[in-house]
Amino acid sequence: MVGVTIRAMVEQDIPAVARIYLENFKGMKDYDDAVRWIALKHKSKPICMYYIAMLAESDEPVGYILWTEHGGFRSRSIIELEQIAIAKRYQGKGIGSILVVESLRDVCRYLHARGSELKLVLVTTSSSNINAKRFYENTLNAKEIALLHDIYGRDELIMMAKREDIPLL
Ligand SMILES: CC(C)(COP(=O)(O)OP(=O)(O)OC[C@H]1O[C@@H](n2cnc3c(N)ncnc32)[C@H](O)[C@@H]1OP(=O)(O)O)[C@@H](O)C(=O)NCCC(=O)NCCS
Repeated sequence: MVGVTIRAMVEQDIPAVARIYLENFKGMKDYDDAVRWIALKHKSKPICMYYIAMLAESDEPVGYILWTEHGGFRSRSIIELEQIAIAKRYQGKGIGSILVVESLRDVCRYLHARGSELKLVLVTTSSSNINAKRFYENTLNAKEIALLHDIYGRDELIMMAKREDIPLL
């Protein structure tokens, strides 16, 4: 297990987050596109909230997570885990699990401060990404609720975790 710190992303982190995105996903291939998309999402905070994982020995993020609120500022909030990625050389070391739990705790603190509470978390992943599916089962106790065909050129699995079923919150 590695020593990891989780904090909200700031503008200066965006280039590193874009590099982690490009290393892990195929949706955008261009660095400038990735930076622009992340910067625009970040501008809509707190509807979209990025957090990053830092290691003591690294001076830039080794992972990021993006939480997005759906359906307005509701008293019982619907939050999507929209994206998560850990730099490849740091995967499988427990960082992603810490990032999910710590950042979601912070999202819950924010919701509480504005007078809302978390109702449930949604997460979508490629149905062929068995690692990610197991990861969401382990960290969020998420369950499959639907399968969407041919979304990003492949089938997408929708998973859901109710607030009361999420461990460690
Ligand atoms: C999925 C991901 C965020 C998990 O973070 P991580 O730090 O590697 O995961 P952790 O070390 O905290 O947890 C490991 C668990 O997650 C799963 N896992 C997912 N991806 C893994 C990977 N590349 N290597 C090892 N374990 C992985 C394993 O099932 C493992 O469970 P186990 O301990 O029961 O064997 C990360 O591997 C990643 O960035 N993958 C590529 C991008 C991606 O698929 N994102 C999710 C879809 S949007």
